[in-house]
Amino acid sequence: MFKIRDVIIDPPLVLAPVAGHTDTLFRQVIKDLGGCGLVVSELVSTEGMTRQHTRTHHLTRFVEGERPVSIQIFGSDSGRMAESAAMVEAMGADIVDINAGCPVKKVVKQGGGSHLLRDLPLLEKIMKEVRKAIRIPLTIKIRSGWDRNSINAVEVMKLAQDCGVEGLTIHGRTRNELFSGHADWKIIERVKQQAQIPIIGNGDVFSPEDAAGMFRETGVDGVMMGRGVLSNPWLIRQCWDHLSGRPVIKMGLKQKADFMIQFLQRVCRNSPPPVALGKMKKIGGYLSRGFPQGARLRAGIHSAHSAEEFFETMESYLADKITAE
Ligand SMILES: Cc1cc2nc3c(=O)[nH]c(=O)nc-3n(C[C@H](O)[C@H](O)[C@H](O)COP(=O)(O)O)c2cc1C
Repeated sequence: MFKIRDVIIDPPLVLAPVAGHTDTLFRQVIKDLGGCGLVVSELVSTEGMTRQHTRTHHLTRFVEGERPVSIQIFGSDSGRMAESAAMVEAMGADIVDINAGCPVKKVVKQGGGSHLLRDLPLLEKIMKEVRKAIRIPLTIKIRSGWDRNSINAVEVMKLAQDCGVEGLTIHGRTRNELFSGHADWKIIERVKQQAQIPIIGNGDVFSPEDAAGMFRETGVDGVMMGRGVLSNPWLIRQCWDHLSGRPVIKMGLKQKADFMIQFLQRVCRNSPPPVALGKMKKIGGYLSRGFPQGARLRAGIHSAHSAEEFFETMESYLADKITAE
């Protein structure tokens, strides 16, 4: 357990923000599986929020059962960032998180996400203005730096602390590394050693042993997991059981498949058909990782033209595999 001011994060395991995946439906399911002490929304554009784009309303939605919930905002205009943060507070979120790590070109070109790691005066202005605009806790999520020659996570953490930021998540890769190689847990350890605020470590936790290793090697207050949860939704629960000395639940193909079908049916019911089908393909692609002959299943679902075709493909694959199991 740790606290971000008065917000209790217990267990100290966090579901990462993952655009296109970790919407309210996904977050609710992860909370229900257990072990998750904090969820973070996908990144939400402050341009969109302050210009009232309907797409952002969908992104900021959450339900009581998800609490504590953090809403992540991104942008480069300090005024719009502050205005959006105040909107997030008014929606009843527990925490506002600033995205200073997104490596995607579209975001960086507009001066947001990881661009802020190489424009510290702008980052400082944003943090100060957002801090002034809200009373709830403010956190930030960063990468280790822009590139290997400009690793500045410790400096950014100190700046954030001075601006009244109350928690920091660090993904141990630089912007230019995108997702290549391995996350550098040493930089996470260095940030933690020098911080007075809670630090959440992130990057390459795919098993309960990885989570235990990150706590042990870096001393972080919390561990955040992203991609691992997309292909194994039970990961956070398994990490918590392992850390608490309980046996780790193992899921068979039948349980995974039932989960996948039930969850994707909810996705299907909750979005307009073309959006739903796209989402189902993306989420289904991750959830089927590790399935026997999963590539065949993925090829099938990716070429589906409708939700009916999607589920028929899944069911015929599963009928075949589960009888064979
Ligand atoms: C498809 C995708 C979308 C992501 N979207 C976001 C996002 O909206 N905000 C954010 O801070 N990080 C985002 N991330 C980064 C993750 O939160 C996390 O930092 C990264 O995946 C490393 O953690 P992992 O090794 O546990 O996946 C995204 C990552 C992926 C793969």
